[in-house]
Amino acid sequence: MEALAGRLDDLRSQGQLVTKVGKHPVVVFWHEDRAWAIADRCPHLGLPLHRGTVESGMVTCHWHHARFDLSSGCTLDPWADDAAAYDVDIRDGDVFVSPRPDPDAKRRLGDRLEDGLEDQITLVIAKSVLGLLDLGEPATDIVATGAHFAARNRDEGWGSGLTVLTAMANVLPRLRPEDQPLALTQALAFLAGDVGGHAPRFALDPMGGAEVDAERLTDWYRRFIDTRSGDAAERTLATALVAGVAARAEVEAMMFAAVTDHVFIDEGHTIDFTNKAFELVDLMGEESAPLLLPTLVHQTASATRHEELSEWRHPHDLAELIDRTELVAGAGTLSDDEVSALGWRLLDDDPDRVIAALTDAGRSGASAEQLARAVAFAAALRITRFHVQNDHRDWNSVHHGFTTANALYQATIREPSPALLRGVVHSALKVYLDRFLNVPAARPPAVEQGSLTGLAACWDAQGLVDEAGREAYGFLAGGGDPGELVAALGHALVNEDAGFHWFQLYEAAVRQYEAWPEGSEEGRLILVAFARFLAAHTPTRRELARVVDIAKRLRRGDELFAVAE
Ligand code: FES
Repeated sequence: MEALAGRLDDLRSQGQLVTKVGKHPVVVFWHEDRAWAIADRCPHLGLPLHRGTVESGMVTCHWHHARFDLSSGCTLDPWADDAAAYDVDIRDGDVFVSPRPDPDAKRRLGDRLEDGLEDQITLVIAKSVLGLLDLGEPATDIVATGAHFAARNRDEGWGSGLTVLTAMANVLPRLRPEDQPLALTQALAFLAGDVGGHAPRFALDPMGGAEVDAERLTDWYRRFIDTRSGDAAERTLATALVAGVAARAEVEAMMFAAVTDHVFIDEGHTIDFTNKAFELVDLMGEESAPLLLPTLVHQTASATRHEELSEWRHPHDLAELIDRTELVAGAGTLSDDEVSALGWRLLDDDPDRVIAALTDAGRSGASAEQLARAVAFAAALRITRFHVQNDHRDWNSVHHGFTTANALYQATIREPSPALLRGVVHSALKVYLDRFLNVPAARPPAVEQGSLTGLAACWDAQGLVDEAGREAYGFLAGGGDPGELVAALGHALVNEDAGFHWFQLYEAAVRQYEAWPEGSEEGRLILVAFARFLAAHTPTRRELARVVDIAKRLRRGDELFAVAE
């Protein structure tokens, strides 16, 4: 597409011409005896570059003083991003401009995404994500760019950033198409913040030539985690990940065994992180395992062990109860109603009865999946029944119970193991410990009507917790499409300046909703849990959504700010 910018004589005498190529404004400068054309929207905030100053082969924008090379459009100030350069053709005294072919656009945008992650510039991240998606880049490849960045640049290894990235990648297909770029940008911006300020990570190499099998490595790994020997554990894991040494299932069993050798470590985060890392490996391909899985080791080795915390010891010695609990899983003979009833029984205020309910169910034929699903349901009910008169910070406590239970569920359906069953016991007792947050219990909603419009209004004022639960529940009870509710909740999430736990909880609620038959009461109550949690934390300033909106408008060539000439 070519556009006539004007006459060469006018360009020489005026120093510049402005035109449009399609919808995109372009400025042609006459400088050092030749014509140069670049986009007339400053890529920083869209103000007109024709109002800038040209000297020494650069144009300087007059608003925040970003500088751009006239020949390429590239910026000298990375926070502003590069401007598009245009080709100029002068024929018979007329000046024509046309877009410069950019055969390397994907690589360039991928590089810019890394720049945005390194410098934590959300506008650059947003523009890169939008550009890559427009070029047909699969969302998984964008996620992989973020994962590689975090795995290389955070010396402490896996953290909340990679967890959020994986959670958003998991739920992306459930979101409205127009929300997906925002969800990716949210996740990547969060990741950049989590990685920023950390030293790079230098991974340890496998032991070359070692003749150790998976069983020996498992024994070592658990011992080194137990003794908090992070480097030794990392080298052991790296060796297990060498092709042909240990099968994927053996590595998974080994890592979850080490995680559950101690009780509910790091408030359940370690179980969640470990599960998420395997999910990210599944997303990126098995070859990513040596990059991703060792990032978990130091966090696992240094995590707080809850058998050392008084609430797990007094007045009931829950660690001792765990030690003498033998949970066995059956063939899966429970009906969904029986799994649901087990979930409700797990809300008991006596830890012995909680464990008895679980072990009896296992002996009666409950499969590992059914046991894990019942515990996750009980943990969701703690949120659904969380009373707003509790301390606001206690939303985090019920959040940890639920997201950890979901992680155990996901790991169980992927690769069941005795270690995961032990984790299910820990998780059931975490639900028990959170019982005081349901005293008194908020009444689960029992309405027949609700709407997504009514639900959306709940995000705009503080404290509409029960109202949000009623709207979500009533929408489904009235026959509303669950997919629309899931997408509406996701829309609300990604439009807020969401925190770590929000992303985790949304993903856990969506996936636990899907673990139950369509239209189930249990699924409704699980989505109500997330609606209530979100309403307890909104509204925020919603800044990131505005950044993505600016990025979209800049890409379209819209005028963001009217500037008097
Ligand atoms: S530097 Fe140009 S708009 Fe900010």
